[in-house]
Amino acid sequence: MPRLVVNGKTHDVDADPNTPLLWVLREQIGLTGTKYGCGIAQCGACTVHIDGAAVRSCSLPANEAQGKQITTIEGLAQNGVLHPVQKAWLEHDVPQCGYCQTGMIMAVAALLTEKPKPTDADIDSTITNICRCGTFQQVRAAIHAATSS
Ligand code: FES
Ligand code: FES
Repeated sequence: MPRLVVNGKTHDVDADPNTPLLWVLREQIGLTGTKYGCGIAQCGACTVHIDGAAVRSCSLPANEAQGKQITTIEGLAQNGVLHPVQKAWLEHDVPQCGYCQTGMIMAVAALLTEKPKPTDADIDSTITNICRCGTFQQVRAAIHAATSS
């Protein structure tokens, strides 16, 4: 029975420890902002933060996240204030269907923690999330806007 700290709250979850973290977040804890896309660590729809780093939760057994700080899209805003990436996403109308966007935002937020002023090359090599709506140009523009706010 994994004990997980998600968005600052501790949850003792009734799940096999090898269950992918994605499903524990969605089905046991009820945080459905994290999405299922491919299930094989390719698309990034399921991206969350583990101790601040972007991780594809579909491919991480829940027990490997024990003792770490897990942050989902629901925990990205702090005290009712949107994260700069969320603000830039709104200002640049990035989402189209929206399905990939929570994972995209989490991946970008982790990138900016590591590299506050990423180049286009940094963005292209790090943000490998797949967007079927083709929002990549808006994503890049919004990332640069987020770094200047
Ligand atoms: S659902 Fe996890 S990377 Fe696609
Ligand atoms: S906004 Fe539709 S898949 Fe990315």
